[in-house]
Amino acid sequence: MEGIPTSIRVLRVGQRYVRDERTLTHLCLVSRALGAESIYLEDAEKDVLRTLEEVNRTWGGDFHAELGASWRGVIREAKKEGRSVVHLTMYGMPIQEVVPDLKKLDKLLIVVGGPKVPGKVYHEADYNVAVTSQPHSEVAALAIVLHEIQGGEELKRTFQKSRLRILPTSHGKRVVEN
Ligand SMILES: C[S@@+](CC[C@H](N)C(=O)[O-])C[C@H]1O[C@@H](n2cnc3c(N)ncnc32)[C@H](O)[C@@H]1O
Repeated sequence: MEGIPTSIRVLRVGQRYVRDERTLTHLCLVSRALGAESIYLEDAEKDVLRTLEEVNRTWGGDFHAELGASWRGVIREAKKEGRSVVHLTMYGMPIQEVVPDLKKLDKLLIVVGGPKVPGKVYHEADYNVAVTSQPHSEVAALAIVLHEIQGGEELKRTFQKSRLRILPTSHGKRVVEN
């Protein structure tokens, strides 16, 4: 049945020797803002966690990062609980062709890569999905896939228990305390 998935988690298959804290932070923030409930990171600086705690405290919700899990373990557990594994790669099937199938899924694990993705990930994934067949960014690919799968519903989401709330305005900034 088509609808919005009840649970989306994100897995970043990292590269232990190249730490890119800014990209990690952006992956977390995009996942949180666009409807995922958590992200698994193979490695991360403590600062990423601190940033997320601060963002949740200020802007609400309970998005969280889980550190140190092996990608194999996360994928194994996902499959065990009936979660579909969607790996984002420029070599995959175009998102516009597979999105009708993806929209039927209830629980998803979206896998994004860092600089080097182990070949096994391509075979373990239920879907290998491309956002164009051109190289670009895991942050951009993740945002577009989250948007396509949720059909724009993620844009209307509100976050519970925030300290601050934005009153959207066409000019300037309006922020109120809750
Ligand atoms: C620096 S890129 C590496 C590009 C890689 N050769 C690939 O398989 O897409 C890091 C990550 O960005 C994502 N990515 C980059 N371009 C993409 C595209 N066109 N479609 C989907 N994901 C993409 C993938 O998750 C990839 O592992």
